[in-house]
Amino acid sequence: SSHSLFAIKASSSSSTVVESQNFTVKSVPTQPYDGQKTGTSGLRKKVKLFMQENYLANWIQALFNSLPTEDYVNGVLVLGGDGRYFNKEAAQIIIKIAAANGVAKILVGKDGILSTPAVSAVIRKRKANGGFIMSASHNPGGPEYDWGIKFNYSSGQPAPESITDKIYGNTLSISAIKMATIPDVDLSRVGVTKSGDFTVEVIDPVADYLELMESVFDFQLIKSLLSRSDFRFTFDAMHAVAGAYAKPIFVEKLGASPESITNGVPLEDFGHGHPDPNLTYAKDLVDIMYGENGPDFGAASDGDGDRNMILGRSFFVTPSDSVAIIAANAQEAIPYFRDGIKGLARSMPTSGALDRVAEKLNLPFFEVPTGWKFFGNLMDSGNLSICGEESFGTGSDHIREKDGIWAVLAWMSIIAYRNKDTKPGEKLVSVSDVVKEYWATYGRNFFSRYDYEECESEGANKMVDYLRDLISKSKEGDKYGEYVLRYADDFSYQDPVDGSVASKQGVRFVFADGSRIIFRLSGTGSAGATVRVYIEQYEPDASKHDLDAQEALKPLIDLALSVSKLKEFTGREKPTVIT
Ligand code: G6P
Ligand code: ZN
Repeated sequence: SSHSLFAIKASSSSSTVVESQNFTVKSVPTQPYDGQKTGTSGLRKKVKLFMQENYLANWIQALFNSLPTEDYVNGVLVLGGDGRYFNKEAAQIIIKIAAANGVAKILVGKDGILSTPAVSAVIRKRKANGGFIMSASHNPGGPEYDWGIKFNYSSGQPAPESITDKIYGNTLSISAIKMATIPDVDLSRVGVTKSGDFTVEVIDPVADYLELMESVFDFQLIKSLLSRSDFRFTFDAMHAVAGAYAKPIFVEKLGASPESITNGVPLEDFGHGHPDPNLTYAKDLVDIMYGENGPDFGAASDGDGDRNMILGRSFFVTPSDSVAIIAANAQEAIPYFRDGIKGLARSMPTSGALDRVAEKLNLPFFEVPTGWKFFGNLMDSGNLSICGEESFGTGSDHIREKDGIWAVLAWMSIIAYRNKDTKPGEKLVSVSDVVKEYWATYGRNFFSRYDYEECESEGANKMVDYLRDLISKSKEGDKYGEYVLRYADDFSYQDPVDGSVASKQGVRFVFADGSRIIFRLSGTGSAGATVRVYIEQYEPDASKHDLDAQEALKPLIDLALSVSKLKEFTGREKPTVIT
């Protein structure tokens, strides 16, 4: 059966049995596994690794060994995931270890389902001590693919590096796992199961999150848009977790037609898909939006529901523009921001579009390294309201994760607000109208990212070493073809709240006209190295705003490839993904 992995281990080990008041706690002897170091966002590996004997159990126990006991003993933890293969078995393992370590209560989504933003929302609403997210985000799922686990803190934000480093340290010396000998919990029904003082409550994965969305947005306003016969909407849930939210929110609450949701049922292997909402992996949606007589508004979300992609008819909104446009329109279109925006932030490789909005609205602005966790402190200290990343992440301080459905609702709010007075028969203000109007006001930051997935690590690392060496020798005024260097560095960030420093966060070349080329290795892959090249150029001249980004950026892209000797180091002729 699906639980045999754990059952065999528990019965075949010569384990010590400790009677606790409520149930039996076993101490299961174990040995360290190599390589349990978390990346940008949790521990992410092939599921086959996780399914080895104690692989997952070791990491979970190492986590409890790393947290101060007051952070979990007699506390409440949330548990959920994106519905991928192995989640149901993993949930049972996590519940048993949590119980054995003294956790009082686990709130788990029905069928183990909770999107990443929903976990963050539930932690905050229920004042939980933290939570586990069983997801490898946008990486494919199924027996041959990826699995992952993330831990979030009591504010709902991803655990900081100081904790994940500690967990890694503990995985290297772990020798025993505490396991409660409680039966598997039925996750298919909402309700409460008690084992002595330990409680598992199976919750509706949507309710708390939906309540939060209703408090952030004007649902009546959005409904007025979705119910128009001259507005057509389509959402591709990519057979991932957003499917569990799309129908209750878009259809049942906001009146979208049931047919507007495609791939709406979460599947363990995402229907053999790669649940990453970008121009390559969400091709079906892109084809519909660029096809004849396509819908007016299209969106997609990733495996665990934190990423988003926004499209208009035959029009792609680049994530860097998306966050800037949401920020520019938030105060009038979204009730949550009506009293003002505290500040704006983006990750370093994200284009500078948002910077211009911050300048115009006279708002505090922050540039942080790649990774949502860097926004948390700024939000907790009341300095940040809206932020985003080029990697299809957009969100606000309503929670401490990026939020795919939130981004879709934000865009719907903007379009609905702009069309409040558009009469039937008149032309609607479209997604592309909103973007073009924004470009006309602020200028356009042309942006593109080239990904070279699963390269040999050796070559990729050598390329980064080469670039670091290059920046150490470069100076202001150096000529790179027609571009003049302003500065080149390896991005380093000091958190203004806790003073912690994150260094080596990406090599960047910034030119006199504001153009940038940036190189980073991805921290979210599960095999080899993924090289990311980010290219950006600002264009104030409105007559050039309709150019295709690839065309507009061609000289800079060529420069990035030659400066880095990418072909030489990686052997790659072409990127795997272009956004
Ligand atoms: C995850 C994180 C994001 C991050 C992204 C890209 O989605 O939550 O905050 O921007 O990964 O990371 P990578 O290291 O692969 O570029
Ligand atoms: Zn994700």
